[in-house]
Amino acid sequence: MKRTLGVCYYPEHWPEDVWADDAQRMVDAGLSWVRIGEFAWSRMEPAPDQFEWDWLDRAIEVLGNAGLKIILGTPTATPPRWMLDKHPDMLAVDEQGRPRGFGSRRHYCFSHRGYRDESKRITRLMAQRYESNKHIQAWQTDNEYACHDTTRSYSYAATEGFQNWLAQKYQSPAALNRAWGNVFWSMEYDDFADIDLPNLTVTEPNHPHVLDFYRYSSDMVVDFNREQVTEIRAHTDAPIIHNYMGRETSFDHFKVGADLDIASWDSYPIGFLSDRLEGSQDHKRRFLRQGEPDNQAFHHDLYRAVGRGRWWIMEQQPGPVNWAPYNPAPLPGMARLWAWEAFAHGAETVCYFRWRQAPFAQEQMHAGLLRPDSADAPALAEALQVSREINDLPDVGTAKADVALVFDYESAWAWEAQPQGADFDQFRLAFAAYRACRRAGLNVDIVAPDTDDLSGYKFTLAPGLMHLSDPLRAALTDATALIGPRTDTKSEHLSIPTPMGPNVDGLDATVVLTESLPPDVGVPLENGGQFLHWREVLEGDAPVRLKTTDGHAAIMGDKLRYLAGWPDDATWDLILRDLCNEVGLTHHNLPDGLRIRDTQTHRFVFNYAPEPLIWNGVEIPGAGVHWAAL
Ligand code: GAL
Repeated sequence: MKRTLGVCYYPEHWPEDVWADDAQRMVDAGLSWVRIGEFAWSRMEPAPDQFEWDWLDRAIEVLGNAGLKIILGTPTATPPRWMLDKHPDMLAVDEQGRPRGFGSRRHYCFSHRGYRDESKRITRLMAQRYESNKHIQAWQTDNEYACHDTTRSYSYAATEGFQNWLAQKYQSPAALNRAWGNVFWSMEYDDFADIDLPNLTVTEPNHPHVLDFYRYSSDMVVDFNREQVTEIRAHTDAPIIHNYMGRETSFDHFKVGADLDIASWDSYPIGFLSDRLEGSQDHKRRFLRQGEPDNQAFHHDLYRAVGRGRWWIMEQQPGPVNWAPYNPAPLPGMARLWAWEAFAHGAETVCYFRWRQAPFAQEQMHAGLLRPDSADAPALAEALQVSREINDLPDVGTAKADVALVFDYESAWAWEAQPQGADFDQFRLAFAAYRACRRAGLNVDIVAPDTDDLSGYKFTLAPGLMHLSDPLRAALTDATALIGPRTDTKSEHLSIPTPMGPNVDGLDATVVLTESLPPDVGVPLENGGQFLHWREVLEGDAPVRLKTTDGHAAIMGDKLRYLAGWPDDATWDLILRDLCNEVGLTHHNLPDGLRIRDTQTHRFVFNYAPEPLIWNGVEIPGAGVHWAAL
């Protein structure tokens, strides 16, 4: 398969007489795809049931005739102002009970039936109009579900929807009371209609109540997306895609992905480094203009799983963004490196965001491939270089990885509902394990929590999974795997099971005590490392592989083993070194900033460091990429 490049474009922002020139310049830059439409509702339907499709028809013709393939987005992330007059209660409500008003975007509640019908209606009209348009080669649903913290809404519509969802799930209030343990503090209900959302309580709400609300909220995203997919699917076989985000765990992406043909995500490496990733000042300074070296790869591997093998970058950072606390420019070379890294992890297409920097409104300080005055911005030449390189390099394929890392959204919600220690975050824990794999030069497949076959992997990591699914529990029994901390220590209702966990055949170890710790206090280990944030005390007859200096088991088990704490980076490295030795994998111990990824045919080496690094006798320039046939 030939990899391709694309760009996000907003014809409604620019005079019509520049469209043809823009399209030609896109083609000249080697771009194949252009994504349009996803915020243009007020121009498609300026007033209720008054449609203006002509401009969009012409934009599609101009772009398509230039040779570009079009991804058409449904505009439901930006309902026009008149929509609020039609549905005054459609706004989401925040946890404090305040409506989240008009004037930016994503101002809707996923539970609002009226808005859901509007979303289906506009999607249907677009699908009917463009079903046979040969230029439309893919569809995008909405834009970045969850962005700006919009999955969970504490509205009246959500309350009603949640009550119905609970009634379906539990069938009787008595069953719900049992599952949630509502006898504690006299929280028992005798009618589903009495159950409020878990906000505005006096002290912390009951954890299973919160977890069920998070499950419900995730299901609303799944349903909203499915409704659009159904409308589009009735008219066309073109692939349907959604553009997910980085470090976003508020809905189950595997479930949304099951209804789509291709997963994609929006990659802003520099924005994410300053905006949403932990790291020391030194680390953030070193990678200020390149982004965290493992963050992109983690999401590539995650969304490859969500897309069941098919995935894209729908938005690739081209220069400074506008939304992080600080917005440095990328080092020259990074707009190329990021694209190649995506391709090495199996991306079919990388689209840069956006074509031309807009001189107006919220994102006027956000770079594009062109400057606001239409001159080339620095990333344009790098996109052209990548497009030439794609033409020269044969299909490199995607190899199955050696290591599986299980990632579970429900566990992220469970630990949000019941953190127990302020720093316990499921993404952070899984990412720490992933980063250790990357430092070791290992290829990783991220896998869903209902995976039933781990036999193709040399070893599996399953940190922080609150409760194992039946298929995974069975698959783990004969896998080489490291589970824990906190894995399988809860029931699906977020209570402590009897017998206490983990409960996996062949592993005689039980978590009998848990403690969480402030960031500056660790639990020393006999190997010189330490547990941070979290440690558990184990009982059982499984062999002890590592101990804390205060005499407790830190890792217990044989092929399947339990890790009783949150390791520091040095300990993760030792753990992986042992696992690699055991299964016959090479542990590379890569220099800081250097990362590798093997495809079916090539090894790619990425240098995220600003300075040149030498690896296996080859010097890779700072912000540079190197590849060689395997
Ligand atoms: C994304 C979003 C785009 C644009 C971009 C700016 O989150 O999908 O519409 O806002 O960020 O970086």
